[in-house]
Amino acid sequence: MPLTSHGGYPSEAARYRERTPRSAALMAEAVRHLPGGDTRSTLFYPPYPLFIKHGEGCWLTDVDGHRLLDLSSNHTALVHGNRNPGVLAAVADQLTHGSCFPGPSATQVELAGLIHGRIPSVERLRFTNSGTEATLNAVRAARAFTGRGRFAKMEGGYHGSQDPMMVSTHPDPAAAGPLDCPRAVPSSLGLAPGTLEEVLVLPFNAVAETRALIEAHADGLAAVIVEPVQGSAGMIPAEPAFLAMLREVTAAHGILLIFDEVVCFRLAPGGAQAWYGIRPDLTCLGKMIGGGFPLGVFGGRADVMAQFDPREQVPRVPHPGSLNANPVSLRAGISALEQLDAGACDRINRLGERLRAGLQSLFDAHRLSARVTGAGSLFGIHFTGAPVRSYREVMGADPGRRHTLFLGLLNEGVMLDPRGAGCVSTAMGETEVERFLAATRRVLERIDLRQEPVGPGRS
Ligand SMILES: Cc1ncc(COP(=O)(O)O)c(C=O)c1O
Repeated sequence: MPLTSHGGYPSEAARYRERTPRSAALMAEAVRHLPGGDTRSTLFYPPYPLFIKHGEGCWLTDVDGHRLLDLSSNHTALVHGNRNPGVLAAVADQLTHGSCFPGPSATQVELAGLIHGRIPSVERLRFTNSGTEATLNAVRAARAFTGRGRFAKMEGGYHGSQDPMMVSTHPDPAAAGPLDCPRAVPSSLGLAPGTLEEVLVLPFNAVAETRALIEAHADGLAAVIVEPVQGSAGMIPAEPAFLAMLREVTAAHGILLIFDEVVCFRLAPGGAQAWYGIRPDLTCLGKMIGGGFPLGVFGGRADVMAQFDPREQVPRVPHPGSLNANPVSLRAGISALEQLDAGACDRINRLGERLRAGLQSLFDAHRLSARVTGAGSLFGIHFTGAPVRSYREVMGADPGRRHTLFLGLLNEGVMLDPRGAGCVSTAMGETEVERFLAATRRVLERIDLRQEPVGPGRS
């Protein structure tokens, strides 16, 4: 590709604008009604996001008619891809009966039984409308059970948008503090006063430092919440020794261990806890558990969950919600879960391994300082030369390069998450993985990402 008159390579953003006039027009209209045209913060990227019209299997069609290989699967929620026939049939059937009722349905018993059967630690569970509500209620249950006020989360961990979780999700390196005592950094303005004090921030995968922090603060801690694979930090897996330490130290101090498997349940039929062989006290599910419809789950030890039992008195911890356990999402979830059996998990995990290895070889062949992380069917791309074991190692990474690659891939007909993460769905096979790698190769041949100036990337 020849140099332009500006001395740089033709910008992928310029290509993107040329290809997507209808998205641009919709964005121009959207900003008149929605702040910045946006209503889901994780979907915005400059210059404007692609507006999507249709999804089919592992393919998306944007409003300009381009087909894109869907490696986002709505940020991992669509583990079987778009318009999965089983999910659609279940939902269509449910809609002939109604969408939500002022009474429980047999469907909630069925999905609860399926989840309990697959995740033995989830002895009792409750349904929510989102992962955010699931983690909110899990932490509340832990506080009520232990009588303690604070909880601990990992630096770089994202568990939803409620106040106490919007702490140190993506802290600025300058504000993050030392490894052995990370600072609680607000991820939003407007958090309730006292929010930062209720959260102990722990350094992910730093065994000694995290153990010392938990031990020093144990008396006040109700729970430690952790994603076995940190999703929003870019698919960074916990090391087994780290999770084993968390299990041991929390048990020793009467602190509840909460696994947030909203993203990483898909690792195995019994979820990430089966993959790692660790039994948490509470578990949160979301995204894929609703088969593409709004659904979350929190559950775990029967004695902790008994606080929600309404039979003998007003429950010690109420959990109302007008659309909790709505049967449309439940039916979609049952179908999605049934299809995600051991064979399906194995297949997408093997494809994920092939994808990560292929991507890393491509980056190495182009002498790029880039690392591919992930586990099973999940992957993340980080523009850093150092090994990536936590958000700490990627917080100085180069969002400009990552964004250029992301736009380049959109121009090649591939959709990732804007943070450079993605996943393999059961709608994919080897052909799609090879197609993705070929698209990445074309982008790397077209733009020299070693020279690309740090652009308007988003950390
Ligand atoms: C690990 C994790 N937990 C919780 C949530 C919150 O889920 P929801 O977006 O359904 O509220 C997310 C969302 O991305 C997540 O990645």
